[in-house]
Amino acid sequence: MSSRSVAPFSSRDAVVCRGVGKTWAPATPRAHEALREIDLDVAPGEFIVLLGPSGCGKSTMLYLIAGLEDTTAGELWSFGDRVEQPSPERSLIFQEASLFPWLSVGQNVAFGLSIAGMASDERRGIVRQALQRVGLLEAIDKRPHELSGGMRQRVAVARALAMQPRVLLMDEPFAALDVQTRARMQSFLLDVWQASGASVLFVTHHIDEAIALADRVVVFTARPGRIKTIVPVGLSRPRDPFSRETEALRRHLTAQLRDEVDRAFAEQETVMA
Ligand SMILES: Nc1ncnc2c1ncn2[C@@H]1O[C@H](COP(=O)(O)OP(=O)(O)O)[C@@H](O)[C@H]1O
Ligand SMILES: [Mg+2]
Repeated sequence: MSSRSVAPFSSRDAVVCRGVGKTWAPATPRAHEALREIDLDVAPGEFIVLLGPSGCGKSTMLYLIAGLEDTTAGELWSFGDRVEQPSPERSLIFQEASLFPWLSVGQNVAFGLSIAGMASDERRGIVRQALQRVGLLEAIDKRPHELSGGMRQRVAVARALAMQPRVLLMDEPFAALDVQTRARMQSFLLDVWQASGASVLFVTHHIDEAIALADRVVVFTARPGRIKTIVPVGLSRPRDPFSRETEALRRHLTAQLRDEVDRAFAEQETVMA
C-alpha cells in the first residue's frame, strides 16, 4: 500500500482517483502495467476528455471507474463512495454500439431498467423520454440493423441516459463514424450532456474531438499511462474549429501528445522485434 497521504476531496466530486494504478495479470510472468499513479478529480457536470496514444490505458481507466475491473493500487471514489463494483450511476458506452440485434430499439433502451426490476408502465415513459432526447422516438420499434451507425450510437446513448447516470463513461464512441456524422454526434452529445447534468469522461485519440468537447483535456503518457498534463479549455461552445484560440490549443495538445505517440510506437516495435 502507498504510504503517501491522500489529498482531501469532497463527497460531491463525481469521480476521485488517488494514486490509481492497474497491472493486468499481477504477480504472474505476464504482469503488464497499464496505469500508474493517476490522481484526478472530476466535478459534477464536468466534461473530461481522456486523450492519449493507443495502448496507454484509456479504456482501462474507464473500466476501473465503471467498477468493471479492480484497481491494483490507489483508491477510487464516486460521490463519496468507494468504487468497488458496477453501478447504474455510472454508465459505459463502447466504440461499437453493443445493442442486442434481436431486440427492438425500445427494448434495447429498456433493457437495463428491466434488469433493475422497474415496472413496465414506468419503463415505457422513461424509454420514450430517452429516445426523444436523442431524436429517435420514431425508431422505437425498429431493429438495430435497420439503423445507420450514427443512429445506433444514439440508441446506445439513450440506453445509458435511461439509467439516469450521474457519470457517463464513453470509450471512443464515435471512432467508427464518418467525419460528418462524427461532428453531428459531437454537437448532439453536448446538448444531451448539458440537459442531463451528468459528468462525462470521454476517451479519444483525436485532438480535434477533444477540443470540440472538453472542459478539461487529460493527456496521458505512453504506457504505463500516467497523467502528463491537464489542459483546461476555456472556450465557449459551440467552438469554432478555425479560431486563433482553437489553433493555439491544437498546437499545444499536438506537442504534448507527439512524444508519447513516439514512445508508444517504439514500444510496439520492440514487442514485434
Ligand atoms: N484484459 C486485459 N488483460 C491484459 N492486458 C490488457 C487487458 N486490457 C488491456 N490490456 C493492456 O493494457 C494496456 C492498456 O490498454 P487499453 O486500456 O486498452 O489502452 P487504450 O484504450 O489507451 O488503447 C495495453 O498494453 C493492453 O494490451
Ligand atoms: Mg481503448
